[in-house]
Amino acid sequence: MKRILPYLALIALLSGLSTRAGYLYAAGAKQQAAVAQKANAADPADYLGSDVCATCHAEIAKKFGDNPHAKLALKHNGTGATCESCHGPGRAHVEGGGDVTKIKQLGKMSTKDVDATCLGCHAGSHPNFLRSPHAKAGVGCTSCHSIHAGDPEDKLLTASQPKLCYQCHTDVKPAFDMPFHHKVNEGLVKCSDCHDVHGTFGNNNIKSTADQNMICTKCHMENRGPFVYEHPAVKAEGCLGCHTPHGSQNARLLNVPNINQLCNQCHSPVSASTMHSMNAGSADRPPCITCHTMIHGSNINPAFIR
Ligand code: HEC
Ligand code: HEC
Ligand code: HEC
Ligand code: HEC
Ligand code: HEC
Ligand code: HEC
Ligand code: HEC
Ligand code: HEC
Ligand code: HEC
Ligand code: HEC
Repeated sequence: MKRILPYLALIALLSGLSTRAGYLYAAGAKQQAAVAQKANAADPADYLGSDVCATCHAEIAKKFGDNPHAKLALKHNGTGATCESCHGPGRAHVEGGGDVTKIKQLGKMSTKDVDATCLGCHAGSHPNFLRSPHAKAGVGCTSCHSIHAGDPEDKLLTASQPKLCYQCHTDVKPAFDMPFHHKVNEGLVKCSDCHDVHGTFGNNNIKSTADQNMICTKCHMENRGPFVYEHPAVKAEGCLGCHTPHGSQNARLLNVPNINQLCNQCHSPVSASTMHSMNAGSADRPPCITCHTMIHGSNINPAFIR
């Protein structure tokens, strides 16, 4: 009984030629040319348009108004397909009274096939997805996005960051609870500020930029330079030569607890200058940065004293 009423409405809709519904049906058929050509398969007349889908899938169709994919309707002079651009042409499904074997059931398809459907339109913005660690591990678009249940205000994600990421990356979570950490849990910084989960040219899904330090200096502009006196460590090793990105027991997210030890990885032993000899004695002498305050580079002093 539940399905009969909409079905009757549908028959009226399909046979009403001069009505608005009839117009929509005709318009719905027109856009298919482009879509069908792209899919290189279906007859344009096999696309019925989302108004037809709405007669039986009222709830889904109503909710779809907020979906960014509703914009698909604006394509091809306002005759673009919405539902059927993902689920494929619906005529056989509808004429079969909702025959589920005659429609693309994306919820039941393989990850690979679903990804291919999405990439049909999104490959332009996510060209590296197929060779990303996520795709290789079988994590597909719908592991993180849900077209019908995702939040349209938040990229259709199934959960917001960082919750979404912690569902699988439990090993990363403790770092963000350390005494010094990027404020990801507090919502100040996002995982996706540094990572592009859709794949990049680098390791660890780190966003690719010409200068890798840019991942950090887009927020920490004061450390970017160029400086008259550059500290070569910053350019050569990059920020991660001295800092850890997620969280650390050490202040300033430093890689090692003792600053002198950090510097001495490259500068040991530093006792040659007068300035240093009075401090010779290593461990208990003041941290190098008490004097070398401009450690990322200076425009005034070659030894980064100021
Ligand atoms: C005549 C009523 C009717 C119309 C019109 C209709 N459907 Fe369906 N559809 C059904 C029924 C019945 C099912 C069976 C599953 C259910 O109960 O939702 C179904 C199932 C589906 C499923 C599979 C759900 C799953 O289990 O994965 C998809 C996808 C779907 N419809 C898409 C569409 C699209 C797209 C359109 C428009 C082109 C459309 N339907 C039009 C009745 C209809
Ligand atoms: C951008 C692609 C896309 C568009 C557009 C789209 N769907 Fe879906 N649909 C999916 C995916 C993917 C699933 C599988 C479930 C999931 O991952 O959320 C799905 C699942 C479904 C289901 C199965 C029930 C469920 O909620 O799991 C139905 C029915 C359905 N869609 C109908 C529609 C209708 C009707 C429209 C148009 C109003 C539509 N879809 C538009 C991608 C799409
Ligand atoms: C027929 C082309 C098409 C297909 C297939 C398609 N999309 Fe989209 N998608 C779009 C368009 C167009 C937009 C709206 C872009 C905009 O707002 O400018 C969009 C928007 C999105 C957004 C939201 C972007 C934002 O900034 O809010 C996400 C996430 C998304 N799509 C994921 C998917 C996933 C996952 C699939 C596969 C299940 C998929 N899309 C399939 C065309 C498509
Ligand atoms: C591991 C989780 C994950 C996977 C897998 C994933 N996404 Fe995303 N996607 C995200 C997150 C998180 C964002 C938000 C990024 C941001 O805010 O900068 C996003 C943003 C988007 C956007 C909107 C912004 C943009 O960059 O264009 C689109 C479109 C999109 N994803 C499509 C896809 C498609 C298509 C696939 C599969 C090929 C996919 N996503 C796979 C997590 C994922
Ligand atoms: C401030 C930038 C930044 C933020 C924010 C960030 N990451 Fe990272 N992440 C990195 C960098 C840089 C690396 C590479 C570390 C290396 O090469 O030693 C990395 C490595 C990783 C790795 C692989 C290595 C490992 O530690 O297991 C995973 C997984 C990861 N991040 C997940 C996340 C998740 C999940 C979030 C959010 C909860 C997040 N990241 C937030 C910069 C960041
Ligand atoms: C459905 C589970 C799942 C979700 C959700 C997920 N990931 Fe992943 N992620 C994986 C798997 C599996 C891998 C590949 C194996 C590995 O390296 O851990 C991976 C790999 C990565 C890597 C590369 C690690 C490396 O060693 O190269 C980063 C970085 C990463 N994910 C970040 C994120 C971020 C950020 C989010 C949230 C926006 C996220 N992931 C959401 C499962 C997931
Ligand atoms: C999206 C912006 C953003 C990005 C990208 C970013 N940071 Fe940060 N960073 C912050 C904010 C915000 C703080 C915290 C200020 C606070 O906690 O008071 C911070 C703090 C720090 C601190 C000081 C911590 C302390 O204890 O005082 C260091 C060091 C740091 N970031 C290094 C990095 C490095 C290295 C990268 C690149 C891997 C990076 N940041 C990327 C926003 C960012
Ligand atoms: C040679 C080691 C080294 C390298 C490389 C390095 N830093 Fe630092 N950084 C330090 C030290 C040491 C401190 C602590 C300074 C202090 O406490 O006065 C620090 C402090 C910081 C701080 C805290 C606020 C401040 O400016 O004192 C930020 C933010 C920061 N670094 C970001 C970066 C970024 C971004 C990069 C890459 C462009 C980078 N660092 C490269 C050693 C380094
Ligand atoms: C990853 C290696 C590395 C680390 C770690 C490092 N430096 Fe350097 N630093 C260099 C290199 C390379 C130079 C270029 C001069 C040279 O070859 O000695 C340099 C130059 C300097 C100079 C200027 C020398 C001159 O000849 O004018 C000072 C001062 C300095 N570093 C201080 C520090 C301090 C303080 C720390 C710890 C916070 C530190 N460095 C950590 C590699 C490093
Ligand atoms: C009490 C202040 C002070 C402390 C602490 C200090 N330096 Fe220096 N350092 C200086 C001054 C001043 C110069 C410039 C000396 C000159 O121009 O002859 C200098 C010069 C340098 C130079 C340039 C080459 C040289 O030897 O002249 C390096 C490298 C250096 N310091 C590294 C370090 C490291 C590494 C530490 C920590 C282990 C450190 N300094 C601790 C004040 C200090």
